[in-house]
Amino acid sequence: MAETTLLVSKIKDGTVIDHITGGHALDVVKILGISGRTNGIVLIAMHVPSKQLGTKDIVKVEGRELEPEEVDKIALLAPHASINIIRNYQVAEKKRVKLPNIIRGTVKCGNPSCITNSNEPIQPKFYVKSQEPLMVKCHYCGHIMEKQDILKQF
Ligand code: CTP
Ligand code: ZN
Repeated sequence: MAETTLLVSKIKDGTVIDHITGGHALDVVKILGISGRTNGIVLIAMHVPSKQLGTKDIVKVEGRELEPEEVDKIALLAPHASINIIRNYQVAEKKRVKLPNIIRGTVKCGNPSCITNSNEPIQPKFYVKSQEPLMVKCHYCGHIMEKQDILKQF
């Protein structure tokens, strides 16, 4: 998008999550644990025209860098997102999120009888069958989960 139509201002220090799948900015905000009671500047842009994605969302968070677990969760709903670390107005680092073929830790199985939901100390494990639309399959019980099922857990 041309600078003449910059929708949200640049930030000084913090993180810009760009190229978020259109409509998912508020889910990213939730993953980051940001609420109205959180201090610090947060800029959100939704349904911004994008050459690559059609429309995209952007979330800019001043004064904060992301935890690896937060990045892993963002990858599930926005597999094309880029994470830009901003220091003194410059892009100091740019990373693309990556959705692995196997997911461990960030998602719980939705099947109550799955062994991963018993008292056994077994970590959930899912195979990514499709990135967009997201579809993952539990290694232990074969239960299929889609984006909406996973979003409810975040
Ligand atoms: N950005 C910002 N504040 C800054 C610097 C950059 O909010 N001080 C934002 C830009 O508006 C953009 C993102 O961070 O949304 C990445 O910046 P940059 O790499 O300069 O933009 P592009 O080249 O368009 O990024 P890409 O190649 O990832 O599309
Ligand atoms: Zn299961």
